[in-house]
Amino acid sequence: MTTTENKFDVIHAVEANFDAIFTWDYGRSRPALVKLYEKAKASQWNASTDLDWATDVDPEKVSRELGGGGGGGMRFQALREAEGSPVKHFTDKDWDRVGIELQNSLLSQFMHGEQGALLCTARIVETVPWIDAKYYAATQVMDEARHVEVFARYLDEKLGSQYRINPNLKQILDDILADARWDIAYLGMQIMVEGLALAAFGMMHAITNEPLLKKLLRYVMSDEARHVAFGVLSLQEYYRELTDAEMRERQEFAFDVACRLQRRFGQGEVWERMGVDPSDVFSTMERVNPPAQQQFQQLLFSKIVPNCKKLGLLDAADGWLRDRFTEIGVIHFEDFVDTGEEYAMLDEVAKDRAASA
Ligand SMILES: [Fe+2]
Ligand SMILES: [Fe+2]
Repeated sequence: MTTTENKFDVIHAVEANFDAIFTWDYGRSRPALVKLYEKAKASQWNASTDLDWATDVDPEKVSRELGGGGGGGMRFQALREAEGSPVKHFTDKDWDRVGIELQNSLLSQFMHGEQGALLCTARIVETVPWIDAKYYAATQVMDEARHVEVFARYLDEKLGSQYRINPNLKQILDDILADARWDIAYLGMQIMVEGLALAAFGMMHAITNEPLLKKLLRYVMSDEARHVAFGVLSLQEYYRELTDAEMRERQEFAFDVACRLQRRFGQGEVWERMGVDPSDVFSTMERVNPPAQQQFQQLLFSKIVPNCKKLGLLDAADGWLRDRFTEIGVIHFEDFVDTGEEYAMLDEVAKDRAASA
């Protein structure tokens, strides 16, 4: 693809100081992780041959579907009509372009997030002290490489443009990777970032009729569900040993990441590309408070809150995290299906193989 970046701009280093951990205990003492590892080995797929890359994709049609049938304009009806709106002058053609840009930006952020997951999982192989977790995490490194591959290829071959990483997302990934504590990498990446990704993929998968994107998302979701399940299994065990003060640190970290992930969906880079100041757009949107935007953001918590509950994070240390989720209006998701229960249902790769056998 064409890019204006030179070769120095494309490298970004995060300094980290952590111990690479050997274990001499090769006993298979964690049956749930053993099961997940076996499942992961049987569910590998090949992005080159399991997806039909010859599919003809019309980016405008894809963006219209994702926007509820009306391009960018319908999604932002309230913003368009607001008093003093910075996008009042946009024509229908401009709104079609907004739709396409939003979709390219969202898929680009998925791609960058997947690379974050790739680096974090490779780190987990080194830092986690249990052999069963090292085995499993190694399968996930392959999964995440495949996810980066499919999003990059879809953007490059089918949509024709990519966005650089959103600054909020970049900061979150940097903070996760700079932390030396292995459980923080699990919590940040497996529970928070991947939990959100799974909710967003699920929504996009339900809406789109573009066959390549639909199958790609379905396959990625099968893998992601396993990844969140891995985070939940490992952290549940580890958290039982922590003090209240240590649990509070994890709660604060989880809440901070959740709030920052929520802001990432402002997609300021799209408004910049459209020639308007993103902060004007955000302040106007906040004023008109479009319910569709709110619903989307709330949906993102539908995975995070039940997963935090399952980890024991909601009610540890005097229920600090329960209080925060209550304040921002997302606590009602606590009894939604957590991802650990969900992953077996999402194994589409195994179902496809059984159907074609
Ligand atoms: Fe992934
Ligand atoms: Fe993942």
